[in-house]
Amino acid sequence: MKLTAVDQTSRPSMIRDITLAPSGHRKIEWVSRHMPVLNILKTEFEKDQPLAGKRIAMCLHLEAKTAYLALTLRAAGAEVVVCASNPLSTQDDVVAALVEKGVTAFAWHGATPEEYDMHIAKALDCEPDALIDDGGDLVGMLHRERPAQARKIMGGCEETTTGILRLKAMEREGSLLFPMMAVNDAFMKYLFDNRYGTGQSVWDGIMRTTNLVVAGKTVVVAGYGWCGKGVSMRAKGLGARVIVTEIDPIKANEALLDGFEVMPMQQAATEGDVFITVTGNVNVIRREHMAVMKDNAILANAGHFDVEVSKPDLEASAVSRRTLKNNIEEYLLPDGRRLYFLAEGRLVNLAAGDGHPAEVMDLSFSLQALSLLYMLENRERLLPRVYNVPEEIDRKVAELRLRSLGVEIDRLTEEQERYLASWQL
Ligand SMILES: NC(=O)c1ccc[n+]([C@@H]2O[C@H](COP(=O)([O-])OP(=O)(O)OC[C@H]3O[C@@H](n4cnc5c(N)ncnc54)[C@H](O)[C@@H]3O)[C@@H](O)[C@H]2O)c1
Repeated sequence: MKLTAVDQTSRPSMIRDITLAPSGHRKIEWVSRHMPVLNILKTEFEKDQPLAGKRIAMCLHLEAKTAYLALTLRAAGAEVVVCASNPLSTQDDVVAALVEKGVTAFAWHGATPEEYDMHIAKALDCEPDALIDDGGDLVGMLHRERPAQARKIMGGCEETTTGILRLKAMEREGSLLFPMMAVNDAFMKYLFDNRYGTGQSVWDGIMRTTNLVVAGKTVVVAGYGWCGKGVSMRAKGLGARVIVTEIDPIKANEALLDGFEVMPMQQAATEGDVFITVTGNVNVIRREHMAVMKDNAILANAGHFDVEVSKPDLEASAVSRRTLKNNIEEYLLPDGRRLYFLAEGRLVNLAAGDGHPAEVMDLSFSLQALSLLYMLENRERLLPRVYNVPEEIDRKVAELRLRSLGVEIDRLTEEQERYLASWQL
């Protein structure tokens, strides 16, 4: 039996194997040395205990940086319960280390869809006061299956674009039952995490999985949002020819002036060696595109859900499939062409890599911690809506980051302040 039930905390965890913990502790130690802003906050929290008596459920990619956020919330006095936001991004050694540190965990790598849902349900059974979600699965289950429990939740924070789209849909139809902070939409999140984090880690995941050269290849990036900009920028830096596909004319213009070719997917499909979807949308690469792709084309997704490359279409197009190496699935088409699908279409940077660099997640998770505190402190006046992260929190994280790097910036003089505030020169 792959399940290990561990009862080291007040609650039993469900994880793969507690004996994996030593390597998890070392991974967490490594990232903690590269997350200076979170370290400053952790020191403050240890003293002030702002989350004492609160139980927080976190549904995030369970790897070392997230683990360090969980430990930071624990240092703030919270009881912390974690479950996964993706079955393939969970690192079993990190989860084991968290349990040894007193966090309750329900997750293992490669959970089936039923196990994945069961883990989320178990986390909710712990009756959290507040939550941190990544993609909306925790909030979704609360609203679909447990409305009475949802009404008792104080609120939460959402990490990613896709989760915020879902929350805004719930807000529009009046079904959202508690306040949620849109952490993704803070400047110190999307400008760095989505752009530079995804930009670097997607290539890390693809390169370590395929061990192929990027220079000289034609890379097709579907979606020129914040993630797509980063993925395209780093592809260019690695020496690739980059084609962008978009549905938004403004983003398409941006891509053109950033120096990329823009064309519809049907045309790009004939030219690409590597395809990366990062749209947050469904069926962006479909059967008609697969029908014209080159032999050996590589398909990967970096959007939140594994729906951007149509798996049913890939299955239907192929006469056979086999696993060639870890995270590379080969699909043989009737005419002899082979398409290679990475990490089952899950976020390639997390399912086939370690996710974003620690320095980047330092910013995102500092925003998470501060937004959670803000939400709890202001709960009385917050309605069941989606709230932007206050500018003071964005600026605090930006300033702490600069301080940790030893970088100073100029301050406005009084004359400059007056000038900027006046209309009569
Ligand atoms: N891999 C990661 O670590 C990671 C990190 C952050 C966000 N994400 C996820 O990546 C996805 C994109 O996030 P973002 O912040 O860049 O969002 P975004 O809204 O800034 O960009 C998405 C872009 O995709 C375009 N698009 C939509 N449908 C399309 C289609 N059919 N063809 C081509 N383009 C299309 C949109 O016009 C938009 O420009 C989301 O699912 C988000 O949750 C992943």
